[in-house]
Amino acid sequence: MAAPAEEASAARDRAPVRDTASASSAGPWSLRHLHLDLRVSFAAAGAGRLRGRARLELRCERGGAELRLDAHPALAVSRAALLPPPGGPGDAAGQALPVESRPFASYGSALHVALPQAPRAGQLLTLLIDYEAGEGPGVCWLSPEQTAGKQKPYMYTQGQAVLNRSFFPCFDTPSVKFTYSATVKVPEGFTAVMSATSWEKQKDNTFVFKMSQPIPSYLIALVVGDIVSADVGPRSRVWAEPCLIEAAKKEYDGVIEEFLVVGEKLFGPYVWGRYDILFMPPSFPFGGMENPCLTFVTPCLLAGDRSLVDVIIHEISHSWFGNLVTNATWGEFWLNEGFTMYAQRRISTEVYGLPYTCLEAATGRALLRQHMDATGEEHPLNKLRVVIEPGVNPDDTYNETPYEKGYCFVSYLAHLVGNQSKFDAFLQAYVNRFKFQSITADDTLEFFLEYFPELKEKGVDSIPGFEFDRWLNTPGWPPYLPDLSPGQQLMRPAEELAELWAADSLNMEAIEAVDIMGWRTYQLVYFLDQVLQKSPLPEGNVKRLSKMYPKISKAQNAELRLRWCQIVLKNNLEAEYSKVKDFLHSQGKQKYTLPLYRAMWGGSEATRALAVETFSATAPQLHVNVHNYVKKILGLGGAEA
Ligand code: BES
Ligand code: ZN
Repeated sequence: MAAPAEEASAARDRAPVRDTASASSAGPWSLRHLHLDLRVSFAAAGAGRLRGRARLELRCERGGAELRLDAHPALAVSRAALLPPPGGPGDAAGQALPVESRPFASYGSALHVALPQAPRAGQLLTLLIDYEAGEGPGVCWLSPEQTAGKQKPYMYTQGQAVLNRSFFPCFDTPSVKFTYSATVKVPEGFTAVMSATSWEKQKDNTFVFKMSQPIPSYLIALVVGDIVSADVGPRSRVWAEPCLIEAAKKEYDGVIEEFLVVGEKLFGPYVWGRYDILFMPPSFPFGGMENPCLTFVTPCLLAGDRSLVDVIIHEISHSWFGNLVTNATWGEFWLNEGFTMYAQRRISTEVYGLPYTCLEAATGRALLRQHMDATGEEHPLNKLRVVIEPGVNPDDTYNETPYEKGYCFVSYLAHLVGNQSKFDAFLQAYVNRFKFQSITADDTLEFFLEYFPELKEKGVDSIPGFEFDRWLNTPGWPPYLPDLSPGQQLMRPAEELAELWAADSLNMEAIEAVDIMGWRTYQLVYFLDQVLQKSPLPEGNVKRLSKMYPKISKAQNAELRLRWCQIVLKNNLEAEYSKVKDFLHSQGKQKYTLPLYRAMWGGSEATRALAVETFSATAPQLHVNVHNYVKKILGLGGAEA
């Protein structure tokens, strides 16, 4: 394996990319290392205080460069200073520098640092910034009531896409990679964990972290809470609040290692050392977040039957696609997520077989269908390469297209190759070629054509209707869909049962002949998606369905609960509206929360009232982004949804 530094210099051979979502002057600088010195304290009411000093070890690549960092109005900078070169003369506290925060966008500001003189190319600078992170969107403070244990407060950070600029000042762009370290002092009775290769507890409840591989800023993450851990594999443990740790261990004991081993076989070495999982409080807005060495997941994954393990396989897949080979800008997000969906399904195929994986992929395709129906296929966000105009928050462009259309495009590339093991070998070579770098789709596709010269010769990039350019730059339904028919044996019975339930007069004999008790969760999910598509069903059918299948209508599994709530709303089953409310009170995942508010707001007067009532009760516990998107859906202002 080549040393990261060599790879990084190879990256600089390519044209620099412009990241419209960063206010920083990252291009002419490289960030060799970031050290964070943090103190976290909690206030009684739940909010807390994070005081920090960031030390940026910079190298000037282009003489005369300005120094501008990404920051946020919530980040109060008290002092910036330039440290003297190591061993040289000068004040150890550094030479104070003038700093000025200037407006940039709704999601961040530009921190201008005035250097005493124009830097020379090749010059090394060490910059200190003292600051306090206030109520910014990247740092979330939870009161005891918002945790599972309800005893102690909790804080976590969520960086992706552009939130870490309110956690520490930096080049907050995925085009820049650097190593980091941190010391975090926390109050007695709390533990700190970070997305780092090493973790050590020292005296005074101070935790020391080191990430020895270069990563982009969005992958730095911190949690401080009452958390404990349990081993679940040779390089894996689960972290959770004490009251959840047994369930967490039971859910994943002995299963993680196999995914890592299969991932390594397919995509090459796992470079991150450990792979741990942290179960977050219920308001965590994502199913999973691939923070290196330590994936953060929603506690909804604790289904008791490992049925939602595909989320873990997805986050593990980011260890190669996203964390090792990274999209250079958020407009190329499909490179992270589309390749990860493909990798996830490759691992799933190896471990669980093709029929099951095709079934899971079919539920993904249904989500893409729903998304494109809702936005219109021609919506500009339904391109793989998204144009993010200055001022547009990349988080507001989030949707199913980079995931599922991205998956289709990678599957199409595999189809062009026509041989799975050759394509697997390509993926491994791709990771090896671009590891520790940030790239664009042009790099990917150029490498693909170089790797398969016979395909380049044939001009596969310009087959009418399937042009690579069209895949990237034209909105719409994917021109190629991978064959999911190996999943038919699992999908067909679900489709047939949905047909039966959609009939005007129910054929109860035929319905009762189908035994769903042995169905896997994703078969039930697929069945419910079919029912939802056919909804509203003829009067009375959903009520009967609910009675007949308590396994569905009283399910605790979050994927089933989401679908059941959608069905309840689309069929105006007022008797079960309380389930929608209960589900939204129990968790705050964005992908569950927004579709339900959209359905309520698009429904009757009663469902609109339900939306308002539920939102006013749950608003304080939602992540600020999710909170703003719901506000927007309910016409209360707020960000784009
Ligand atoms: N990296 C994403 C989560 C994310 C995306 C956070 C954009 C912030 C901005 C993560 O890997 C993800 O895709 N999670 C999915 C998992 C699913 C596709 C299996 C989720 O949370 O639902
Ligand atoms: Zn992902």
